[in-house]
Amino acid sequence: MRNESRLDEWLDRILCADALEVLPQLPSDSVDLVLTDPPYFLDKLDNEWTPERAARRFYKSQAVFHLPPGMKFDPAQGRRMYEWYLEISCELYRVLKPGGFFFSFASPRLYHRMVCAIEDAGFHLRDCFLWLYTQNQPKAMSLHHFIERMDVDAETKRILHARLSSWETPQVKSCYEPIAVAQKPYEGTFLENFLKHGVGLFNTAVRIGLNMFPANVLIVEGVEAALDKYFLVPKPTTGERGAFNLHPTAKPLALCEYLIQLSTMEGAVVLDPFAGSGTTALAARNLKRHFIGIEINPEYVAIAQQRLQSATLPLF
Ligand SMILES: C[S@@+](CC[C@H](N)C(=O)[O-])C[C@H]1O[C@@H](n2cnc3c(N)ncnc32)[C@H](O)[C@@H]1O
Repeated sequence: MRNESRLDEWLDRILCADALEVLPQLPSDSVDLVLTDPPYFLDKLDNEWTPERAARRFYKSQAVFHLPPGMKFDPAQGRRMYEWYLEISCELYRVLKPGGFFFSFASPRLYHRMVCAIEDAGFHLRDCFLWLYTQNQPKAMSLHHFIERMDVDAETKRILHARLSSWETPQVKSCYEPIAVAQKPYEGTFLENFLKHGVGLFNTAVRIGLNMFPANVLIVEGVEAALDKYFLVPKPTTGERGAFNLHPTAKPLALCEYLIQLSTMEGAVVLDPFAGSGTTALAARNLKRHFIGIEINPEYVAIAQQRLQSATLPLF
């Protein structure tokens, strides 16, 4: 039997636990917004890669891995992500208020699995926001070493090197992250739901760029005047992560603040079941919302707590 608790027991805390252990304990229909950036299930895919090794590394260390050079695909990876995220999404569906939004960052490669899981849990998919950036390391790998290892004479290798000098593994520089925008079905009309639960609409007074209507494309670094005009949210402040923050995938605070302001009112409860270094929690606190953070790695919990304790950052 489900052992539900009172919501105020969980507020404004970062819990060190597996999300799947904590979520079933949260009360139903209680959370205003879920904003999260889950592990992407993109494990190290080099020549040593096997599904067994990937599973061991993921569950033991709970670290987030990136695609290194040289991709070896296993379709089971996407299916595992789907099954796991379906379980997570079913719990999130239960704890969200009717009409509540669920923003979920994703990777371009496994976005399709993520949104199917979210939809199959009962959510309505309303949009796909894009976070665009220009700075990222290209991960394509040259064929040099593979040619060197071939059992052919030196002249053949020389010809192959010359012929294939610009041909690399199929990875261009990755410059965006999709953000799934889902909504728990609302009760009655949008208005009736909003009056009863305080969620389900977007606040169009929130502006981006040069005082522009909210858009589904977001950039956090100045790129070019026309793009900045429509899509720029405030740039990350210097030192906003904190020098102590070693989390490899900390999100920009302004991005989280934009999504929270767009979809909630002051006093709302924002849940991040994969809190990492606590960016969602910090953004919620800056905007006078409550937060509930869950993070499995104790080192990241400590970082999140240190960020939350440090001096109040400038408001959005
Ligand atoms: C992509 S990171 C989140 C980064 C975060 N948005 C930030 O700005 O720092 C995903 C986090 O989920 C955590 N995680 C992985 N599996 C988890 C689980 N089952 N329950 C809770 N947290 C988990 C990882 O340790 C990692 O810190």
